[in-house]
Amino acid sequence: MCGIFGYCGRRVAQPILMEGIRRLEYRGYDSVGIATLSGGRVFVAKKKGKVSEIAHQFAPAALPGTLGIAHTRWSTHGIPSDRNAHPHLSCDGKIAVVHNGIIENFSGLRELLEEKGHRFSSDTDTEVIAHLIESFYQGNILDAVRKALKGVEGTYGIAVLHAHHEELIAARNGSPLVLGIGTEEFFVSSDASAVVEHTKKVVYLDDGELAQITPRSYHVFDLKKGVKEKEVSTLAWDVQEIEKKGYKHFMMKEIMEQPESLQNTLRGRLDKDVRLSLSGIPREFLARVQRIMITACGTSWHAGLVGKHIIEKYAGIVTEVDYASEFRYRDPLLTARDLVVVISQSGETADTLAAVKEAKRKGATVLGIVNVVGSSIARDVHGGIYIHAGPEIGVASTKAFTGQLAALFLLAFYLAQLRSKPVPRPGMRQLQNIPEVIRKMLADTAFISAIQKIAEKFHAYPNYYYLGRGVNFPVALEGALKLKEISYIHAEGYPAAEMKHGPIALIDENMPVIFIANRGGAYEKIISNIEEVRSRKGKVIAIATAGDKLMSQKADFVIHVPDVEYELTPLVNVIPLQLLAYYIADLRGCAIDQPRNLAKSVTVE
Ligand code: AGP
Repeated sequence: MCGIFGYCGRRVAQPILMEGIRRLEYRGYDSVGIATLSGGRVFVAKKKGKVSEIAHQFAPAALPGTLGIAHTRWSTHGIPSDRNAHPHLSCDGKIAVVHNGIIENFSGLRELLEEKGHRFSSDTDTEVIAHLIESFYQGNILDAVRKALKGVEGTYGIAVLHAHHEELIAARNGSPLVLGIGTEEFFVSSDASAVVEHTKKVVYLDDGELAQITPRSYHVFDLKKGVKEKEVSTLAWDVQEIEKKGYKHFMMKEIMEQPESLQNTLRGRLDKDVRLSLSGIPREFLARVQRIMITACGTSWHAGLVGKHIIEKYAGIVTEVDYASEFRYRDPLLTARDLVVVISQSGETADTLAAVKEAKRKGATVLGIVNVVGSSIARDVHGGIYIHAGPEIGVASTKAFTGQLAALFLLAFYLAQLRSKPVPRPGMRQLQNIPEVIRKMLADTAFISAIQKIAEKFHAYPNYYYLGRGVNFPVALEGALKLKEISYIHAEGYPAAEMKHGPIALIDENMPVIFIANRGGAYEKIISNIEEVRSRKGKVIAIATAGDKLMSQKADFVIHVPDVEYELTPLVNVIPLQLLAYYIADLRGCAIDQPRNLAKSVTVE
């Protein structure tokens, strides 16, 4: 949450900074700000609003110079407003700071600084950093930042500039920061996706590190000790991947990319055997794992719930699933024979990252299923599976979810193989073919228009239920989450049979109920659940297996999905649910890629 971008080089900074925060806007979009340096002066512009709404107020002439920092905000301390927008300045206006994270001891620091005569002009926690640096400044900005950070508790990714120094200081503790290494120009960004159009060479800062960047060079230091040698990584992403490519929204582009992104997840990993290279996790350990604990947040947690079913079914290993935010604080019982699997698209979710640390502290081995290469979680786990879904910019996760499911299938099959369990050959073949199956679904105009018609009919309804059983209960949760996130409609997912234990009280003619009702699994039971809803006048929308005529009689509306092995149905069922949420949100005129109150990666607790 919050996007930071910095530039130091020979080009005019303002347009580069504007473009940088535009690309980072998915991380927060309640206010925007820029500070540049020119002729020994700091120039600042900041405003409440989205980049697209206020870009015209950031005139290049008012922000001169070839060095600058920029910020797009997701508010934690202080309402979205012009005065709370970053950058924040020191009293003398010579130091400017942008920050992502939370300074936990900010009120104590603020009191102390106010006693010393510092005057604050915002309600943010960030402003204390600017004043603290000012209080330590004695001619060396790197030194002042280092001293200030020693007194700061909490999480931060910061970029700092000072009027008298042609340099940019960046530092990280718990909030991601990456340096882009160009030719005689350097970039600082919360996320590699915003630098890829300038350079593919990056250095990932680790916690406790700070960087000093001038137009000619950069150096990375440890907060406590001296200079650090850092590896320069090469990004595999291409600039086209972060463009909308003619789609109205990133979310639709990412839904449509799923055949390709799934192909990338599976490529080279599945032929007659499953091949996973989990470098830091020995095969012998995996062959003897006693218990698996999956932990994640949001959509990734839903993928984890599907993972439990398939790991238990194919590999026969007891598997539990926990929210990372609960896991990290509940003192989980773990032993050295347990495998903790963390799932994260961004690889930066604060709770999931904390869960990795907690699991490692307790001696467990940690495997990550991550999309963003080089992210904090990817670098902190013992070994892992990259899903290679490419950049996911839409706040509502889509292609990452299906990539996570595919990775969990690979893991389940791989574990079964290592433990000499019968690996289901038809299932493996069908998984291999899933990208093609989804390609056909998305190209089928009758399928798409069935979903659009349902969206037109129901987009004004205020409440929805999503019901599924077994491996499709998590898909019901995911469908409900998609609708809530982007259309602001209240939706709840339940295991279908649980409906009778309370939620059924809400069923009447105003309640659309989406059943995930493929053949196989508990099909007959689902039919009974549908009857229960119908007899209370609920509107039934069913996701059903192609050719299921009975379902066409039972439900008010049916969306047919291809007939695949029952365990694989989550991969095809989620597609119409993603599309339904999208079309409903679009009809309601919602900001689909930037839903209110949300940010793509939740890097604060
Ligand atoms: C999904 O649509 C969400 N925006 C959100 O629930 C997300 O899945 C969650 O914040 C976890 O993110 P991660 O996968 O990047 O860790």
